[in-house]
Amino acid sequence: MASIPHIAVIGSLNVDLVTRTPRVPAAGETLTASSFALGFGGKGANQASACSRLSRPKLPKSSKAKPPSAKVSMVGAVGDDQFSQGMLDSLKEDGVDVSEVRIAKGKSTGTATILVEEATGENRILFTPGANGVFEEKDNLIPKDVDVVLFQMEIPLKTVLHNIEVAKAQGVQVILNPAPALPIPISIYPSIDHLIVNSSEALILSSSLENPEDAQQQLDSLSAPLLDAGVPNLIITLGSRGCYYHTLLRFSSGQPGRLIPASPVEKVVDTTGAGDAFVGAYAVKVAEGLRKRENVEVEGEGRGWVSRGVSVDEAVAWASRVAAKSVEREGARGGVPWGDEVE
Ligand code: RIB
Repeated sequence: MASIPHIAVIGSLNVDLVTRTPRVPAAGETLTASSFALGFGGKGANQASACSRLSRPKLPKSSKAKPPSAKVSMVGAVGDDQFSQGMLDSLKEDGVDVSEVRIAKGKSTGTATILVEEATGENRILFTPGANGVFEEKDNLIPKDVDVVLFQMEIPLKTVLHNIEVAKAQGVQVILNPAPALPIPISIYPSIDHLIVNSSEALILSSSLENPEDAQQQLDSLSAPLLDAGVPNLIITLGSRGCYYHTLLRFSSGQPGRLIPASPVEKVVDTTGAGDAFVGAYAVKVAEGLRKRENVEVEGEGRGWVSRGVSVDEAVAWASRVAAKSVEREGARGGVPWGDEVE
């Protein structure tokens, strides 16, 4: 490993068309919205931005600032349109290396049409892939000298699956956030080190779980086949209900998964990108744990740990605090803190 670990985020870059509304219109209804804004988003780009911000202090140029704990690269594609340069600049401002982002000739940058309900901050998203769809199955997107790769599913699924296998064969830590959710072949699970399940999918599950005891039981049943399929670390984000994790290590020794309550939030303004903030924060802990591995021995090393240096419990708790902060401001990346802004 180089002096600091390298995280590559392989995924989407979208222009977000965000309308805030008092409520979601019914079919056939025209409703006056409260505001409209254009922003830079995409699950991949949001997660890259979160990884980069969270692995460095807000003012990295100050002489007293701590150096970054990870290098972060974005791999993906934008269109050759009026949005591409702004998108790349927004990532560069956050410290992300964008040299592996392609500009796809004749394509439009991907878009996401987002409705945010003002009272709850909840969002509804319609995603149009555009340039995110240019990748072929066998495109090798894993950069050189990478330690952690992070995938979502807004680029073609076959490209994601191929690159997971390539990364695994190279001994790289693989994190998959399967959002938007699609069925994936069972054979891929053993190549995934950390599966962080799509938050809307988990919310659908958790909304029927009023009794916390039932929640524990149902989440344990839900996670069993995934752990059985070979996923060592499984995290299910549950929105305002917090999150849940289970590991192969705990599972094999007959222990249940752990439910972690959500961190307090002053006022939920916009939940867009909260899942991305969570995943980015978790990935930073995976990377930092790899660095600690060189000189720290922690009991329990193995498939139930993020690495020798950092436990899943610690990574999930930190990611929850980051996600809670992220919902307090508008925009997919608006509320994502920097490394020195969250304990
Ligand atoms: O997770 C939030 C993101 O999902 C938005 O930024 C939007 O681009 C969609 O991809």
